[in-house]
Amino acid sequence: MILEKTIQEIRETARVEDVISEYVNLKRRGVNLIGLCPFHNEKTPSFIVSPTKNIFKCFGCGQAGDSIKFLMEHDHLSYPEALKYLAAKYGIKVEEEELSPEKRAQQQVADSLFLVNQFALEFYQKQMMETDMGKSVGLSYFKQRGFREDTIKKFGLGYAPDAKDRLTLTAQQQSYNIELLKKLGLTSRYGSDFFRNRVMFPIHNLSGKVVAFAGRIMAKDVKAPKYVNSPETEVYHKSKILYAANFAKAAIRKQNECILVEGYTDVISLHQEGIENVVASSGTSLTTDQIRLIKRFTPNVKILFDGDAAGIKAALRGVDMLLKDDLNIKIVILPDGEDPDSYLNKVGVNAFKEYINSQAKDFILFKAKWLLEQTQNDPVGRSGVIKDIVVSIGMIPDPIKRSIFVKECAQLFGVEEKLLVNETNKALSIRIKKEKQEREVTARRLERERQRAKNDLVGDFPTEAPPVTDADFPDAEPPYLETEDFPAEKPPEEAPSTVVTGNEFQEKDIVRILIEFGHKELAVEETPTVAHYILANIEDVIEDFDNGLYLSIVKEVQQLLNEGKDFDTAYFINHTNPKVATMAINLITSPYEYSENWAKKDVFLSQKDPSENFIKDSEAALMRFRLQKITKICENNKEKIKELAKKGSEEELVTFMKVQQKLIAIRNELADKLGTVIVK
Ligand code: CTP
Ligand code: MN
Repeated sequence: MILEKTIQEIRETARVEDVISEYVNLKRRGVNLIGLCPFHNEKTPSFIVSPTKNIFKCFGCGQAGDSIKFLMEHDHLSYPEALKYLAAKYGIKVEEEELSPEKRAQQQVADSLFLVNQFALEFYQKQMMETDMGKSVGLSYFKQRGFREDTIKKFGLGYAPDAKDRLTLTAQQQSYNIELLKKLGLTSRYGSDFFRNRVMFPIHNLSGKVVAFAGRIMAKDVKAPKYVNSPETEVYHKSKILYAANFAKAAIRKQNECILVEGYTDVISLHQEGIENVVASSGTSLTTDQIRLIKRFTPNVKILFDGDAAGIKAALRGVDMLLKDDLNIKIVILPDGEDPDSYLNKVGVNAFKEYINSQAKDFILFKAKWLLEQTQNDPVGRSGVIKDIVVSIGMIPDPIKRSIFVKECAQLFGVEEKLLVNETNKALSIRIKKEKQEREVTARRLERERQRAKNDLVGDFPTEAPPVTDADFPDAEPPYLETEDFPAEKPPEEAPSTVVTGNEFQEKDIVRILIEFGHKELAVEETPTVAHYILANIEDVIEDFDNGLYLSIVKEVQQLLNEGKDFDTAYFINHTNPKVATMAINLITSPYEYSENWAKKDVFLSQKDPSENFIKDSEAALMRFRLQKITKICENNKEKIKELAKKGSEEELVTFMKVQQKLIAIRNELADKLGTVIVK
């Protein structure tokens, strides 16, 4: 039997998207991921993975559950087998009932630490509710701060009496081990109580067990620290705990936002007023572990800060790390001299909510503004700030978000947007290049390993799936329904320059290939590069391009070729027209988009990295483009025939019908060819 504690740890650590992406090609769609369901046959993805909820669900066949369930169903593993698989994957030690004496002792220590802490919580509670001192000092303090009794009870607040060793003696009378009390910091080395005349805030772990305490001073003694905390123990690692995460997690998931404050009392006040998606980092700046913890529930974080400079400085630290982690960080600076608790009490919950919603500023813009203020009017400092900010913006994985920041920062700095676009694109392309190299190294390694496995004739080697790329997915509409767990998402708003209607996917595809692979050489004399090849094939229909921006790029490429000028991807990324530059970046970084035909043929199952397939891609893209155009002509022609059938000469009607037959034949031929090209 695997211990409940281990199961708990596995459940808390396993990321459903990590686990499933080893089996299913997943593509991001808003906050969720989507892919082809591995439990039934389907051509259009309806298998949704929700990283924030840590579950999957197929809207086609109804399979749903967490990582453990997935492994049990998919690999036909038993429950303990699935747990062990996950434990191995995440490096979690599996503790089973049959433990070594040493392990068993450790486990028992942890369990007894929780027990002793629980005892202490109840002791402090009783002291506050049932003794005169407790009522007059502790309880009245909390009441005067506006905490209701149900709140006090929920958070397990209490009072540590102003006595030498009342807790320690009571514990010993009830046979609690003094060594454990010392270990937990409840009892000092010399046997007296550590917390005295303080109001007590228990600190819980995510599963609600008491791991530590914070005691707030009552005496007006300025020399002692306002808060003292339990020491670190096996069950309390300060950097991994977020205060009240156990009470807040459900609300954070539900509202898809986590509010982060500094103090225990801030958390409690907000929870009491029904704002329950609130946690505190307990007086330290956020650690990586804490970010990871939040990310399990939501990507959206709102940090409330007191309006002093020290707080702001702390906020700026580690900004890039947060951005790279793909968290959306907003900052709210409270009015001078207020913290969330005091401000809430001052203005009431409605005004408070209104304030934090209206005052929330994006982290990047906030950072930009703040840095700018620091440099005053020094031009050298200012250009340093710009360099700093573009690196930050370049960290943001989402191109749409990036372009919004570029726009706003340009305004803020009073520089031309073009300049900032170029700077950001430079920073970004450096990052992309680096990451691409890293990916290539990994791909080569995988290929070598695959080859080695193949050459090894011992046993049956499971063939490894090719590396997953965005190209593995068509951008088909998911047929999924709206449920509470998977609310339908609004499609992301695209930057105006890249708005694409259904008919323009083919055009977009062609432009993408021109930008990304146009400079690649072909071993053909008349068409020495991919760009030559594409242009030669679309020259007669160029004017049929529906999207003006795409058309302008195709025409520009045509001109460059005519003038014998060289160009490559960087040319477009650093284009003088910021619209073109932004679009180029978006095209080569955003998921590869396929036309419906492409999707229907299941081509994505056999596609590898698109950069290896640019020749085949170009051919297919051209055919799709022509197919789309010819389909349009067919439709127009059909309308014409309808008209003629109503009123028109017989002769004309016959002519148009013959044309229609011809068009349909061409169309079918193209579709067929597309099929062979694609399926291969
Ligand atoms: N803190 C701490 N140790 C201290 C001071 C502060 O651990 N000596 C942490 C606590 O988590 C505290 C937070 O920093 O809640 C914010 O500190 P502060 O603003 O000074 O306290 P408040 O939470 O506002 O407490 P109160 O309103 O009771 O003064
Ligand atoms: Mn306060």
